Amino acid sequence: MDLLLRNARVIDPANDRDQTGDVLVSAGRIADIAPRLEVGPERLASVTVLDLTGNWLVPGLIDMHVHLREPGDEYKETIASGTAAAAAGGFTTVACMPNTKPVNDCAAVTQFILRRAEETGSCRVLPVAAVSRNLEGRQMVEVGDVRDAGAVALSDDGRPVMSAQLMRRALEYASRFDLPIISHAEDLELARGGQMNEGAVATQLGLHGIPTAAEAVMVARDCLLAEWTGGRLHIAHVSCADSVRIIRTAKARGVSVSAETAPHYFTLTEDALVDYDTVYKVNPPLRSRKDLEAIKEGLVDGTLDAIATDHAPHSSVEKDIEFDAAANGMIGLESALPLILELLWDGTLTPAQAIAKVTVQPARILRQPYGTLTIGAPADLTVIDPDARYTLDQASFRSKGCNCPFHGREVRGRVVLTVGAGRVRFSR
Ligand code: DOR
Repeated sequence: MDLLLRNARVIDPANDRDQTGDVLVSAGRIADIAPRLEVGPERLASVTVLDLTGNWLVPGLIDMHVHLREPGDEYKETIASGTAAAAAGGFTTVACMPNTKPVNDCAAVTQFILRRAEETGSCRVLPVAAVSRNLEGRQMVEVGDVRDAGAVALSDDGRPVMSAQLMRRALEYASRFDLPIISHAEDLELARGGQMNEGAVATQLGLHGIPTAAEAVMVARDCLLAEWTGGRLHIAHVSCADSVRIIRTAKARGVSVSAETAPHYFTLTEDALVDYDTVYKVNPPLRSRKDLEAIKEGLVDGTLDAIATDHAPHSSVEKDIEFDAAANGMIGLESALPLILELLWDGTLTPAQAIAKVTVQPARILRQPYGTLTIGAPADLTVIDPDARYTLDQASFRSKGCNCPFHGREVRGRVVLTVGAGRVRFSR
C-alpha cells in the first residue's frame, strides 16, 4: 500500500528542507515531496491518504546506542519488545550493543541478531560487535568476519577497553574495514567502587563517587590514539564538561572523532539521587549542573554529533534492591523524543539541529543510507505532533524494562506515526 502524507511540516536536515507539503511513499521508498502532490483517480484505490496538518514529518529516527538484551537476558528485553519500544518512540533504526549472553563477538551471534530482527522486529537493527572476545579486553574479535556478517561498528560498551595497546590495534585494524570503534570511556581504577558522580551530593548521601576524570582521561587517551592511528573513533554516552572540551579540541585538530550524549545527561543531574532511587543509577553517572550545561553547549556547537538513548532495560530483580547492588541503566526509547524536544522549547537547538542528531548524524557515523527524506531513499519517517502535552507513563511502554526515570514527567511533543521502509510500524 502506498502512502500520501499531506500538509505536514517536512523537516529533513540532510537536504536542508523545512517546508509544509506532501510526501508520497511508494514501494517502500520516498517517491516524491512537494508543496502539493496529486494522485490520479486510477491510483487512489491503492494509496492511503493521511492529512497531517499541524504535525511534523521527519526522517525515521535512528538510535545508535541501545541494549536489546537478546540473546541471553530475554527477561529484561527481547529484540521484539525492544524494537516495538523503538517504533513507538519514533525510531526506525537502532544499533544494538554487544553485551548480550553470549556476547556478540563473532559472526554467528551477529547473524542471530539480524535473523531475530527480521523475524520478530519492528524496526531495522544494526548490530554492534565487540572489540574483544567475550568483552574481556584481551583478544580482538575477527573484524572481517563480524563486518561481513553485518556488524556496523565495534564496541566493548558496558566496559572500557582498558588496554591502550588493544585500543590502538582495534583503531588501526577496524579502519581497514571502515568500521568505527565506539568507546565506552571509563578508567576502571578511577571509577572503582563508585555509585554516583563524585562531589558534594555523593558525600552527603554517603555514596562513593565516580570522578568526571574517570571518563575524561579515557576520552583523551582515545582521541590521542585516534589521531595517531588515523582510526575512526566514536565516544559513547558523553556525560561531563571535561569530555566535551577534549572532544572539541580533538575535532579542531582534525581527528576523526564523533560523539554522542543521551537525554538523561541534558535533563537530569546528580541531585535526582537524593532519595537513593536506583532508577537514576546509570553509568556514566548523572553529573552536576555545570556538566549538564556543557553537554548542551556541546550539542549546540556540534562537538556532540548525535543523541542516543543508551536504552538499558533491567527488571525489578536488578533495580528494586539496595543502591550499591543495583544495576546501572535506564530505558530511553519511549521517552527520548519529547526530551529532545525540550531542547527546542528552551531555545537550545533549532528543530533542524535537534532532528539531525537522531537522524542524519548517526547515519553518517555508521555509514548508513538512512536518516534522510531524499527521493529514492528507503521510506523511513516519523510523524510528530509537536503540541501534544501529556504525562510520560511507563505502564504504557512496550519495553519490558521497568527503569524509566522520566515516568510522571509532563512533556510536550508526541510520536503519532512511525513508518519503516514504507511499512507502518506504529501509529497512535
Ligand atoms: O548504565 C549503563 N547500562 N551503562 C552501560 O554502559 C551499560 C548499560 C547496560 O548494559 O545495562
